[in-house]
Amino acid sequence: KHMQNKNNQSALRIAVFPGTFDPFTKGHMDLVQRALCFFDKVIIAILDNSKKNTLFSVDERKQLIAKALVDFSDQIEIDSFSGLLVEYLKTRETKIVIRGLRAISDFDYEAQMAIMNRNLSPEVETFFLMSREEYSYISSSLVRQVALLGGDVHKFVAPSVAEAMSKKKLSLSKE
Ligand code: PNS
Repeated sequence: KHMQNKNNQSALRIAVFPGTFDPFTKGHMDLVQRALCFFDKVIIAILDNSKKNTLFSVDERKQLIAKALVDFSDQIEIDSFSGLLVEYLKTRETKIVIRGLRAISDFDYEAQMAIMNRNLSPEVETFFLMSREEYSYISSSLVRQVALLGGDVHKFVAPSVAEAMSKKKLSLSKE
């Protein structure tokens, strides 16, 4: 099951799944599960970008992802990073990045990022996975909009995320 490294020791196959995850959706959950068919461990790496106005803080996102993926807790790690993804990868024991592709409309941005990352760090390889078709229309930004306008998001996110979103909506409307 494990690859042999140069010293003939077995090495775990690890991949990094980077993203904003504001919030983590069922599409993201599906991608993690798919990746775990091919990797021993998936590190979910939340971009900590103070310039970006997110609904959930990095800590809140970490907790929500941990709850959503509780069944896979022994095969995942939830981390955050700031700055360049390729620099973060150097601090981890892998050069593999996982990204999801939904429709053709994702392709341009994803190809630009993958090629840019390869230019910055030639050994980095991006693996693209397609989620289940029923999740192919879900995006964090649309889920945020729907939740903030009072819509039900249980179809798109884990129950704990849906609950956190309605609490967030209440606290935002009190401000
Ligand atoms: O969920 P997202 O917002 O589509 O994820 C985008 C993410 C976080 C993967 C991307 O913005 C990223 O890697 N940012 C870190 C900065 C970086 O490395 N930029 C150069 C790569 S093009």
